[in-house]
Amino acid sequence: MLTESLTRKVYLATGSAHKDLAVEIAQHMGLPLQEDEIKVFPSDERYFRFNESVRGKHAILIQSLASGKNGSVNDALMELVLMIDAARRASAHEITVVMPYMAYMRQDRKAKGREPISAAAVINLLQQTGADRLVSIDMHSAQTQAVFDGPFDHLTAEGIIRDALAEKVGTHHDEFIVVSPDGGRAKTSEIYAEELTIDVAHMPKRRSKDDPSVIKHPDFIEDVKGKTCILIDDLIDTAGTIVSAAEVLQKSGAKEVIVAATHGVLSGPALERLSNPAISELILTDTIPLDNAKEALGSKLTIIPSAPIIASSLEAIVTRDSLLQLFGGKNYS
Ligand code: R5P
Repeated sequence: MLTESLTRKVYLATGSAHKDLAVEIAQHMGLPLQEDEIKVFPSDERYFRFNESVRGKHAILIQSLASGKNGSVNDALMELVLMIDAARRASAHEITVVMPYMAYMRQDRKAKGREPISAAAVINLLQQTGADRLVSIDMHSAQTQAVFDGPFDHLTAEGIIRDALAEKVGTHHDEFIVVSPDGGRAKTSEIYAEELTIDVAHMPKRRSKDDPSVIKHPDFIEDVKGKTCILIDDLIDTAGTIVSAAEVLQKSGAKEVIVAATHGVLSGPALERLSNPAISELILTDTIPLDNAKEALGSKLTIIPSAPIIASSLEAIVTRDSLLQLFGGKNYS
């Protein structure tokens, strides 16, 4: 908990993309979440106004860059830009932007000529508008932090997901194996395997050149026969990657497949795909609203709250404490 004098210096605000999460973060921090004015004009343009003074305060602005019942991912981004601009023009002393999920981060390089680096475009926009510090969880590729010229605090849900998995593994280490669904998750999967003291296997992944949403994994993968496989990913979007991997594991004789990921983007055909019986359980954190997923997947979905790690990280940021220590160094692995 923050001291009374620090509490007075913080202004905690949220956009409309994932208000429930911001409410939980505020509760964990013991801080009021300000009720600011957010509206949408008939023209679909957004409006934001702080209802209390932010002059001289540390404005902490929470907004997940995700679609939801209050608008699209681009609405969420625009609303955030307006919040930052309002905080700067209202003389906030420091502006920390908390994006539990950051959209556009997969587009982190030019894969073809004449295309943008969207991750850089978004980060530059936030910085140029006035963000002094960015905070996010399990970014698609941590190198993207380099675009922001200032502190970029990278948190990880690895600890909370690992704890949920450790309960399942118990003492049956030989009956489980961690599997990475592509090269990008190989390192993270190895960290999970080491911490859970279980084996690890890696699957190569190819996307079809004609249709990138068509995923190709190998037909067979050794080492998984009779085992419970834990597939790890940073995010699930259309669920093409994870369902294709789960089907291969099932064909290869896996006993069951548990999928764990930090961010449930779950767009397009995702919910239908995830109801595939090749997946026995899906574990996600709530960095993105999951109301539709709860309804569609019922008890197959386990949601791990992300508010506690975000709240302790924000407390560390406000009190100038070590985040590295809070995450045991894992937020930079
Ligand atoms: C890819 O590198 C990412 O880590 C995810 O595996 C991927 O973006 C998930 O997308 P989808 O669910 O649409 O296959």
